[in-house]
Amino acid sequence: MTDNETPRADGLGAFEERAPDLAALYQALDTLECALSTTMRSAATSEELLDRLKEASARAAARAAEPEAPEQPAAAAEGPAAPPRDAAAAAAPSAAAASAPPPETAGAELEALRARVLSCAACGLAAGRQRAVFGQGVSRPVVLVVGEGPGAEEDRQGLPFVGASGQLLDKMLASIGLSRGANCYIANIVKCRPPNNREPAPGERAACLPYLKEQIRLLAPRAILCAGRTAAQTLLGTTEGINRLRTRAHALEGIPLVATFHPSALLRDETLKRPAWEDLKRLRDLLAAGAGAAGAGTAEEKGAAAGTRPAPEAGAPADA
Ligand code: URA
Repeated sequence: MTDNETPRADGLGAFEERAPDLAALYQALDTLECALSTTMRSAATSEELLDRLKEASARAAARAAEPEAPEQPAAAAEGPAAPPRDAAAAAAPSAAAASAPPPETAGAELEALRARVLSCAACGLAAGRQRAVFGQGVSRPVVLVVGEGPGAEEDRQGLPFVGASGQLLDKMLASIGLSRGANCYIANIVKCRPPNNREPAPGERAACLPYLKEQIRLLAPRAILCAGRTAAQTLLGTTEGINRLRTRAHALEGIPLVATFHPSALLRDETLKRPAWEDLKRLRDLLAAGAGAAGAGTAEEKGAAAGTRPAPEAGAPADA
């Protein structure tokens, strides 16, 4: 993990600076790309091409400045990395939400589970920890974010995602109207820090997974966002790579699951920010599609997730 790295503050590094504005910028770029490719295909001479490029650029600027336009038909709006068509359907009320204990009981059960985790010695990681990191967020979240495991700062504070990658995660979530304070819960595959921030071993993941499964049952989130390969592979029980997993719709116990890159990967490689933004949009759209459905989250929480959507995009970026 790279919690000691300093995020870049230029260009696509704007996740760190102004996540909502980044959405508008991408929309403008997508609109421009779309307009330019149509124009270039139809021009007969270079003068004509130049004129059309100017016109297209002006039209794209005007469209980008407009308030939200009606949603495009899904098939026309999306390209290779676009959400699979069954993603929105997966946002219907989950079996987990229907069978979750009522919030009062769930809160008490969650606290009892926390106490068990804090004194757990089920694997070797317990010996090296300062604090076990149970999780943080609201008790009936719209989204449960699952990371890999605590880093040095998380181990010190006993809270998930509080280092540099956590700050980026918060900004990514904020870009689609989510936060751990209002409508998310953040947890990890393993609750104790692996030495030297190494990947948790299969046995360590297996020992800890029942705690996360129980958290999922009690929290009954409307969607799960896996931050990184380890989280996605462990929860989905697969060895497939994150590049493939992130482009497909998944569900766990009836709860729609979106996989994306770990924020620390985004801090290491700026080019992953664009595809990560596509993943967030997929999550946002999935939540918006199911915003009226019964399930976890109060009306206020659902509104926060669904009501802050940036304008729809006209094109799709290349995959990572
Ligand atoms: N990375 C993770 O996967 N989880 C944390 O809690 C912090 C960094």
